[in-house]
Amino acid sequence: MVAQSLIEGLKQRRNKLAQAVAQPVILWSGRGVGRNFPANKLAFRASSHFLYFAGIPIDNAAVRMEDGKLELFMDNPPPQATLWHGETPQREEIGAIIGADRVYPLAELSQKTKDAATIAVQESTTYQEQCRLLDRSVAFSDRLKDLDLELAKAVVKLRSQHDPLALQELRQAAAVSVEAHKAGMAATKHSTTEAQIRGAMEGVIIAHNMCCAYNSIVTVHGEVLHNETYSNKLQPQDLLLADVGAETPNGWAADITRTWAVSGKFSSTQKDLYEIVLAAHDRCIAQMRPGVEYQEIHLLAAGVIAEGLVDLGILKGKPQDLVATDAHALFFPHGVGHLLGLDVHDMEDLGDIAGYEPGRTRSDRFGLGYLRLNRPLQSGMLVTIEPGFYQVPAILSDSNFRAKYQDVVDWERLAQFGDVKGIRIEDDVLITDSGTEVLTAQLPTKVAEIEALVL
Ligand code: GLY
Ligand code: MN
Ligand code: MN
Repeated sequence: MVAQSLIEGLKQRRNKLAQAVAQPVILWSGRGVGRNFPANKLAFRASSHFLYFAGIPIDNAAVRMEDGKLELFMDNPPPQATLWHGETPQREEIGAIIGADRVYPLAELSQKTKDAATIAVQESTTYQEQCRLLDRSVAFSDRLKDLDLELAKAVVKLRSQHDPLALQELRQAAAVSVEAHKAGMAATKHSTTEAQIRGAMEGVIIAHNMCCAYNSIVTVHGEVLHNETYSNKLQPQDLLLADVGAETPNGWAADITRTWAVSGKFSSTQKDLYEIVLAAHDRCIAQMRPGVEYQEIHLLAAGVIAEGLVDLGILKGKPQDLVATDAHALFFPHGVGHLLGLDVHDMEDLGDIAGYEPGRTRSDRFGLGYLRLNRPLQSGMLVTIEPGFYQVPAILSDSNFRAKYQDVVDWERLAQFGDVKGIRIEDDVLITDSGTEVLTAQLPTKVAEIEALVL
């Protein structure tokens, strides 16, 4: 694939924004935060909306866009900064890299804020500056209104269907994440702790000059959905769940989960449940194409899992009845996936504006409430597909759940699967005109292939 130039791609985005939004738009990048003194900085991450139109991370900058033109506002570092940070590109050089039409010192932005729409930046000092310069309070997420709501809807439309510039970056993030997972599998036989496997995986990401798109989950307690500790020792009978994804220097993410046996070989009970999750994963991807409702894909995953658990004797009843009463959610309590792009849960800073079709709201059903995406699929969307099976003590020992589902769970049979705490299989699926392309397909999902990578 021919690489699209940054400037050409960014200009197309700005022109599309101008077609959708008549008023000026100002987006701030945010600023790097010091830890205990200003030069001891936590890693700077520019706002994703800024990155979409500016293309590269610039600490403490703003862009003002109107009629397809972009003005960049940023300060050059003071001369003494070179002692600590070396020579850094000046405003004019950065403006040339991103195809800015004009560049100004940041102070001049205050002259140009009239009637501008914006999106709240997450970092608090810049957020206060944003409200001060616009002379109004800027609302967050679901409370957006007026100009800012119109802008958010236009940005969602653009960012939901990835352009060639985005896809170039997303493919790089996916490829590096695939390598990271292979390194994690290969490191397992020499590792004694979760932390060592995490190190092997993140080492690949860092070696590609990328960072992690989110805090890695590398754990023998896969039932803790967002487990962020790495201190457990590995035991031969454990399954290890690794949810690790890279982010490119310009901010584009991948999000992959694989589950493998620490010993290299799945036990028969582990394999039985793994095959059910894999069947859900494969059947979902096979059904995806433009026009298909993502909620239907979620319900398909729930149905395949319910059917598999009935076949194993863990659940009792008809799969469709089990899904209708949310019994599957005892073991698969989250949604089947989400939008992916500049953020791992893309655009969730806008609440459900991106994830939910206008007029749709979150269900209060146990089996649907955590569904993060409820829209028809469109060509150019990138979504994750990540079904799972978990034995979460907080769910399975909850007295209300046990009472409600006492007749549909065979608890004695379930106890035979005690060596499975959590299994998830997650891939990044691009919707194409005719179906799908799995950007992370180079990483195997089949038991035999995973075993071969670990052993
Ligand atoms: N890595 C977080 C998620 O899969 O949603
Ligand atoms: Mn995910
Ligand atoms: Mn994930």
